[in-house]
Amino acid sequence: TDEVEWWEYDDVAEMAAAVAGDIAFIIESAIDARGAAVVALAGGTTPIPIYEKLSSAKLDWKRVTVVPGDERIVPLGDPLSNVTALARYFLPKGARVIPIVPNAIADYKAAGRSADALMQDLHWPLDLCLLGVGNDGHAASIFPGPDFDEAVNGPKERRALGVLPDPMPIEAPVPRVTLSLAAITAARALLIAVRGQEKRDIIETAIRQGPSSPYPVGLVLAGTDLPVDIHWAPA
Ligand code: 6PG
Repeated sequence: TDEVEWWEYDDVAEMAAAVAGDIAFIIESAIDARGAAVVALAGGTTPIPIYEKLSSAKLDWKRVTVVPGDERIVPLGDPLSNVTALARYFLPKGARVIPIVPNAIADYKAAGRSADALMQDLHWPLDLCLLGVGNDGHAASIFPGPDFDEAVNGPKERRALGVLPDPMPIEAPVPRVTLSLAAITAARALLIAVRGQEKRDIIETAIRQGPSSPYPVGLVLAGTDLPVDIHWAPA
């Protein structure tokens, strides 16, 4: 992208209201244009207040499919399960919420294959990919490190993959499944929501570095032709 716009808020609640409004608009427009909306939503803690707000939007929820853009390989119901958080907010609204990692799968490669097969059945490209960013510059579960190359250079048609980041991310040290870079950058809309100065600095560095950035978020930004809105609130 050559168009990044920063949106700064005083606090997380203000950011949540604004981002939820943007997502609701994207969903509505997708339903108007194509009769349905498929959105990949971020895991982690930052977006929870966004989901809380979004779930009270008046939308034709039964036409909406929600998938986690990345998932931790843990049983459904586990506090680390991204889809469990999404299901809490969007299932009661009537949306289809897809657990991309079946309960029985513990192996990250098998989980990647299963998520990949499932993603092929969704309408494509995604109408929206909402991303958070980690303190190491990771986006979705594409981490800097040994798995980075596979995520970035893997087959371009691949839509999901299993990763075993090494070292495991401190905030949730479990293996992951993630949309690939190709899948993320193909989305019709990309939004980023982050908290704290540290993440802002990382994203600004990544933007300056362009396509040679060692930060996955830098490659997402360099890899999309879309304008990207980055929403920021203090930690
Ligand atoms: C995940 C993510 C991940 C997340 C960042 C930021 O499942 O861990 O989707 O990419 O967005 O780690 O997480 P916080 O919002 O908790 O800081």
